[in-house]
Amino acid sequence: MRELAGKCAFVTGGASGVGLGMARAFQGAGMNLVIADIRDDHLAAAKAALDSERTLLLKLDVTDRAAYAAAADAVEARFGAVHLLANNAGVAALGPVELARFADWDWVTSVNLGGVINGIVTWLPRMLAHGQGGHIVNTASMSGLLPHAGAAIYTMTKGAVIALSEAMRAELEPRGILVSAFCPGPVQSNIADAGRTRPAEFSETGYAESDKRRQKGAELQHLFRPADEAGQRVLRGVLNDELYILTHSEFRDGLQDRAAAMLAAVPEIAENPALKAQYATLFRNPAHAAERDRGSRR
Ligand code: NAI
Repeated sequence: MRELAGKCAFVTGGASGVGLGMARAFQGAGMNLVIADIRDDHLAAAKAALDSERTLLLKLDVTDRAAYAAAADAVEARFGAVHLLANNAGVAALGPVELARFADWDWVTSVNLGGVINGIVTWLPRMLAHGQGGHIVNTASMSGLLPHAGAAIYTMTKGAVIALSEAMRAELEPRGILVSAFCPGPVQSNIADAGRTRPAEFSETGYAESDKRRQKGAELQHLFRPADEAGQRVLRGVLNDELYILTHSEFRDGLQDRAAAMLAAVPEIAENPALKAQYATLFRNPAHAAERDRGSRR
């Protein structure tokens, strides 16, 4: 989308950190804004940081499908249509994989992946129906592109969000809906505090000790990028129709290693041309070729 003024953005987890940075950037571009967030204190802080005339603040748990549908109705009643959906709400539970309890897996997956799915099922038919075009930004993470030790649950959800975004991009671009995977590196935010929104049904955790150690790591925040900068980066990514929206250059070596490792794993055996032709369109995502050919313009 090149023209954002007067259109409407819906940002989940938009009352803090990266989501609030995005919200401020979208509002700066003249958009009407809906912030959907589970935390009252974050919503109150966001209210003070945004132009209240053009902002609707909604308390919403993105894992609650019925509440999500009701929220979408309320948004359409106020702003008519949503053009930019940012599936951004996310939480983290980090630590050794063998310590994770089912509740650790279920909580993180329900928000980081389930919340994105609920956003898509709720909004995509409505975005296609209004016919004005749109953009979906799914917040993944650099961890989704570079899965690493100590974060199996989190990186699994983020890798899934990237794959989902790539598949949807190929399917929806011809119908006027662009999809981006936003993959930030470390950004200043309140994510270390995410346990406060953990539902009682998922309270059993194997990560109590590693959480305490992680809180101590919060002093690294000064090395992280500001949330407003990340928000501006997303705005640029939307205006440029980028498939992958990245914030950091420090992870280039890791990306090169991963891409090279995958290519090196391709066996040196003769191709079956008939099989290759059969899958030529399905397994060559046009969005990848378009992004590669465009080169860097970040
Ligand atoms: P944050 O904690 O500052 O903001 C997340 C917001 O989501 C909070 O306001 C929280 O109340 C809300 N939220 C949590 N569960 C929710 C639910 N079930 N329904 C609705 N809202 C909910 O954290 P941050 O870092 O801004 O996280 C935003 C996204 O960015 C997440 O998806 C996270 O995984 C991702 N990310 C963050 C990075 C960072 O370094 N901060 C790096 C890579 C990705």
